[in-house]
Amino acid sequence: MKNIIAKSYINKEFKNSNQNEPVISIIDNKTIIGTLSYCSKEDINLAFKGAKQYFNKNKLLPLEQRISYLKKMAEVLEENKEYLATLITNEIAKPYSDSLTEITRSIEFIEQTIKVYEYETTHPLVFSSEVLKMDKEATYHLTPLGVVLCITPFNYPINLLIAKIAPAIICGNSVVIKPSAGGSLVTYEFIRLLDQKDIPSGLIQLLICKGATVGSKLYTNKNVDCVNFTGSTRVGLDIGKKVVLKPLILEMSGKDVAIVLKDVDIEKTAHEIVNGAFNFNGQRCTAIKRVLVDQSIAEQLIDSINQKVNALKCGDPFEKGVFITPTFNKKNIFLMQELIEDALELGATSLQEYKVEKQLVYPVVLSNVTNKMKVWTIEPFAPLLPIMTFKNEKEMIKAANNSLYGLQGSIFTNDMSKAKLIATQLETGTININKSSARGPDILPFFGIKASGFGIQGILYSIRSMSQLKGIVFNNLKK
Ligand code: G3H
Repeated sequence: MKNIIAKSYINKEFKNSNQNEPVISIIDNKTIIGTLSYCSKEDINLAFKGAKQYFNKNKLLPLEQRISYLKKMAEVLEENKEYLATLITNEIAKPYSDSLTEITRSIEFIEQTIKVYEYETTHPLVFSSEVLKMDKEATYHLTPLGVVLCITPFNYPINLLIAKIAPAIICGNSVVIKPSAGGSLVTYEFIRLLDQKDIPSGLIQLLICKGATVGSKLYTNKNVDCVNFTGSTRVGLDIGKKVVLKPLILEMSGKDVAIVLKDVDIEKTAHEIVNGAFNFNGQRCTAIKRVLVDQSIAEQLIDSINQKVNALKCGDPFEKGVFITPTFNKKNIFLMQELIEDALELGATSLQEYKVEKQLVYPVVLSNVTNKMKVWTIEPFAPLLPIMTFKNEKEMIKAANNSLYGLQGSIFTNDMSKAKLIATQLETGTININKSSARGPDILPFFGIKASGFGIQGILYSIRSMSQLKGIVFNNLKK
């Protein structure tokens, strides 16, 4: 695999820099797989200025032209599916089959974005004179915002990039992309390939820079008109504090709960929970991060989860059937250890030994967990699943809502009216009945409440969130 040098892309130019940092494989902890070539502060200003100039010149660009840019993105993904999937796996250790799914999901995302946008614009909001019972008619349609800063996370470097830039561009905005350090190599390669498809200067800019040092310089730049961010609550809150009176879409941390009632099929439920909790090592904001089970079936459920977790294949993400792969962030490895130690001290039982080989962290399930343990409320982006039992509904709702976060949750039961009743009491954006939490299908609104999110995504809502409603009210129609 070639050594990629990820450079910023500003006004169609790939910028060289003398500030470079090697990217070391998290799979073997030694191979240099690429270089991050950091841009200067001047480059950052240039990128936003160029994006704004493009927007001002092209805000009335015909829809077919904007659609053609989205089609070029889909072409790049289609033509380079295996290559980009290999890069994802190499860079963030996502199992190869999941990396491939990430690319195909992104192609579908683009296709659906085009269809939904066409539908939205051919069905504007109209208040006729009959409805208003006045001699006036009001119409409302979508107009672009300007420059959208898209800050993407490491765990879906292509899919969450497309989920931001495709709706932004079809609305008529220009975009400035700031990828997380992890995922920068594949993001750069995607942009490099897209550049070969004749993308206009200024429509898409890419900034390779250190979020920790220049992050707030990006979102406070005067040419930014909207921030679409996926990442930690800590950074999301900083954006919320510093970016005033501009649309924000913030997808942040989660601590999604799975509630299991006593009437479930134990095997099926355990299977769904293990997948939801340990897919990509729990490094998804929507991963199941804690389980609340009716105490009358707790022993059977825990047994079944335990067996399934012990059977998970751990190791090389390129090897077929491997489910648990190296954890991306060393900080999360230490955090997982800290949470296990705290829980054990307070009386939890660990069903697996905590084991780390280089960055490969083996999955751990904790039982006998209580509300007092840090693991009940703190989110690790690592393969750790705490399980708590409940005796009655009141206690269960209280424990489920004992969280700073409110992204999603799941309820497993065959009693739909009970599920609905519990769902209405849970403090999360969405509740999934008999399924683990998930962002997709991508057409659905995706959002969190509390410290998990602000603004709504999902294809339709991303389009609405990254555009501005424009009202035109016609008066005295009868004259
Ligand atoms: O990590 C955050 C992602 O938005 C989760 O997406 O539910 O498709 O894995 P997912």
